[in-house]
Amino acid sequence: MSQLLRRKQINEARSEHVDPQVEVEHGLRRSLGVWQLTSLGIGAIIGAGIFSGAGTAVSGGPNHVGAGPGLVLSYVLVAIACGFAALCYAEFASLIPQAGSAYTYAYATLGELVAWIIGWDLIIEYAVGNIAVAVSWGAYFQTLMKGFGLGLPEWLATDPRTARQAFAELQADPTVTGATLDAAHAWQNAPHVLGLPVIFNLPAVVIVGLITWILVKGIRESAWANTVMVILKLAILVFFIVIGAFWVRPENWSPFMPNGWNGVFVGASLIFFAYIGFDAVSTAAEEAKNPQRDMPRAMMWSLGVTSVIYIVVTLVMTGLVPWDQHGTADPLASAFSERGYDWVAGIISFGAVVAMASVLLVFQMGQPRIFYSMARDGLLPPFAAKLHPKYRTPHVTTILTGAFVAFFAAFANINEVIELTNIGTLFAFVLVAAGVMVLRWREPERHRPFRTPFVWFVAPAAIVSCGFLMFKLPAVTWERFGIWMAVGLVLYFLYGYRHSRLRPGGEGTRAV
Ligand code: ALA
Repeated sequence: MSQLLRRKQINEARSEHVDPQVEVEHGLRRSLGVWQLTSLGIGAIIGAGIFSGAGTAVSGGPNHVGAGPGLVLSYVLVAIACGFAALCYAEFASLIPQAGSAYTYAYATLGELVAWIIGWDLIIEYAVGNIAVAVSWGAYFQTLMKGFGLGLPEWLATDPRTARQAFAELQADPTVTGATLDAAHAWQNAPHVLGLPVIFNLPAVVIVGLITWILVKGIRESAWANTVMVILKLAILVFFIVIGAFWVRPENWSPFMPNGWNGVFVGASLIFFAYIGFDAVSTAAEEAKNPQRDMPRAMMWSLGVTSVIYIVVTLVMTGLVPWDQHGTADPLASAFSERGYDWVAGIISFGAVVAMASVLLVFQMGQPRIFYSMARDGLLPPFAAKLHPKYRTPHVTTILTGAFVAFFAAFANINEVIELTNIGTLFAFVLVAAGVMVLRWREPERHRPFRTPFVWFVAPAAIVSCGFLMFKLPAVTWERFGIWMAVGLVLYFLYGYRHSRLRPGGEGTRAV
């Protein structure tokens, strides 16, 4: 029992402890300044959530009611909830600038078991989140290629479940068109192996492979690639706002909240996905030149800039098309293609492909660094903490993460994956906010380079607002989340509990 509650000393968490057993020879390479970190944050934030998810959140889908133009309010509310959480993350990131992010913060405050739970939970945010983004990337890429007459056969650009459902829809209603018809064709035309249809998302697999390769090559190369993509995606969203402003018809903004506040709240629980990523900055803490000063700033800047952009983009988007006609997978592009402006839609699709590639990059960068931290603490096997002798990147976990994401992205259905990512991330935010309060209470005197302002209001507000968004997610998402966490607990007791460096007599007891 005492081991489950054992906490890692902050001084130890902070030191760049070199443990020959886990072959961390030189540590990660410190090369990132505040702008690169901010750009990592924006890189992680703007992606599938705004380019794909916003459409269904406006007009509603099978499991939920649409927010209508009131989705603007959802974006404002979630920005506030994330702002509370970001202020809590910032205090920890300045206090414990380690690659493990929320996992390390929990280890220093709430004990080993909660740390494991959060580390396991972060796989949902990072790796499972990336599955959703890769699937969405594949859809936009296929649309873009089709624009040039180069689309892949449909059975190589969708997942089996979507194809089967679309085929059933086509049989029920032979007049269906667009993406549903394409997916139905995938089911009809797929080759068969051993009687099973071969349907998978090839573009999603290829982009994940490419990103994994860049990440193994090095942090500087990855940050550079990210900065270029961030500039491009910001430019294209500004383009959307400027061009779109000419076509806004204020009558499309009414009714503003066709499903009342419930629609706005359900919309908020879905588009929360769009904001995930400011916290991913914290996984680069060991590669930041001055993490204690720059991590909090980078988180705040990236969240602030993207909140403003999201709110304006949503205003324009909902002004372009009546609220109940947004339910496409590419709402920003289709707002123009349906008017016959294919060239504008093409530029926006290109922006989406670039935007999502940078999200993939940052999350794919964060996940191995969390594994790396967990392995350093003995909760995962030592091979997960190996660094590449030349590039000094955690190449083993980078490649393993890439393989996991690519495999599931080939077959996953995007909506379910997004909801699972949201619940997992919200849970991490709740625990971080709780952790900040616990540490303020336990160690009030400790020097904190950044202090969460009004912590006794901000941290509970983060818990309540993120908890509320969790409760707005469907029951099936809760079930999947529960199963995932249960599997994690079994693994902890089979491995981490026995190999932890903080185990009595273990490495960590001698390390400080
Ligand atoms: N916020 C990221 C996105 O929307 C996960 O793609």
